[in-house]
Amino acid sequence: KRPAGAPDRSLARKVTKVGVVGAGLMASQMALLFARRLEVPVVLTDLDQARLDKGVAYVHGEIAKLLTKGRVSEDQANRLTSLVSGSLTKDAFADADFVIEAVFEDMAVKKQVFAEVEAVVSAECVLATNTSSLSLTEMGSGLAHPERLVGFHFFNPVAVMPLLEIIKGAATDDATLATAFAVGKSLKKSSVLVKDAPAFVVNRLLTCFMGEVVAAVDEGTPLETAEHALDGLGLPMTPFALLQLVGPAVGLHVAETLHEAFPDRYGVSENMGKLVASGKPGVYRPDFTLDPEAVALFAGG
Ligand code: 3HC
Repeated sequence: KRPAGAPDRSLARKVTKVGVVGAGLMASQMALLFARRLEVPVVLTDLDQARLDKGVAYVHGEIAKLLTKGRVSEDQANRLTSLVSGSLTKDAFADADFVIEAVFEDMAVKKQVFAEVEAVVSAECVLATNTSSLSLTEMGSGLAHPERLVGFHFFNPVAVMPLLEIIKGAATDDATLATAFAVGKSLKKSSVLVKDAPAFVVNRLLTCFMGEVVAAVDEGTPLETAEHALDGLGLPMTPFALLQLVGPAVGLHVAETLHEAFPDRYGVSENMGKLVASGKPGVYRPDFTLDPEAVALFAGG
C-alpha cells in the first residue's frame, strides 16, 4: 500500500550510488544501512581525515558484528565492506543519484554543503537532508535545483528505529518525493510524509517530553529521581539516556528551534546549555554511571 501523500512509485528514479556527507555516528549508521539494503556503493565524505577514518572503521566494525551474529554470510560481509568507502572530497559523488547530508545542525553549513554537492552531481541527483528541525524550504532556497531537495529524517539508532520522516519543501517535486519513498521502502523503514514545519512531528513530541523532564530538574528535582520517576511510562530508555543517545547539542538545537517558532509552548533550559558548553557527551559516563560533574551542572539551577 502506498503511504499517505506518496506520489506514484513509477516516478521514482533508480538509485545506483549513494553519497553521505559527514562521517559522524549517524552518518556512518546511515551509510551501512544504505549499503546493506540498497546493495549499491556508498561513499562517506568528511573534511577531517581522522573523523572519516573513524566513520569508515565504525561501519566495518558493525559489519563484523553482523557476521558474528550470523545476520550476514562471510561473502555478504566482504561485499558490504567493499561497498562502503570514504573520501575527503565531494568529487566522489559525481555519479551518485542520492546524496544525503548529516552534518552539524546549522542552516548556513547545510546550505554550503549542498552548494558544493550541486557543483559535482547531475541535475537529477536527489539531495536529502537528515536535519532534525530546520526548514526544508529555506535550505533549498539557494539551490540551482531546489525541486530535488527532500527531508529524510532518521532516528537513533538508525539500524533499529523503524520510522523515517520524509519532508517535502515548497519546491520538492514528485519524482524526488517518489524516489525518497522508494528508497525508504528499500531500507525497510516505515515512511511518513510530514509538513515542513519546525522540528517536523517526532522531535516536537520528544522535545515536549524531554523539556518537561529537564525543567523538573532545573526546578530542583534531583536528576537521579527524574530519571527513575519515569520508569513507569514504559519507554525503552530513561530521559537522560535518550538525551545522551541523541546528543545534548542536537537536543538543545531542536529545543531552540522550537522555542523560536513557538515561544509560549517550548522553553530552553539554561542548564542544558551548560551541559552542551561543557563538551560532555551527556550526564553518563561510557560505563553508564552518572558523571558527577555533568550532574552538578544541573544542581541548584
Ligand atoms: N546500532 C545498531 N544496532 C543497535 C544499536 C546501535 N547503536 N543499539 C542497539 N542496537 C540493536 C542491538 O544490536 C540489538 O539488535 P539484535 O536484537 O538484533 O541483536 C537491538 O538493537 C536491541 O539492543 P539491546 O538489546 O542492546 O538494547 P535494548 O533492547 O535496550 O534496545 C534501543 C536499545 C533500541 C536503543 C532501545 O533502548 C530504544 O529503542 N531506545 C529508544 C530510542 C529512541 O527513542 N530513539 C529516538 C531518538 S529521537 C532521534 O533520534 C531524532 C533526532 O533528530 C534527535
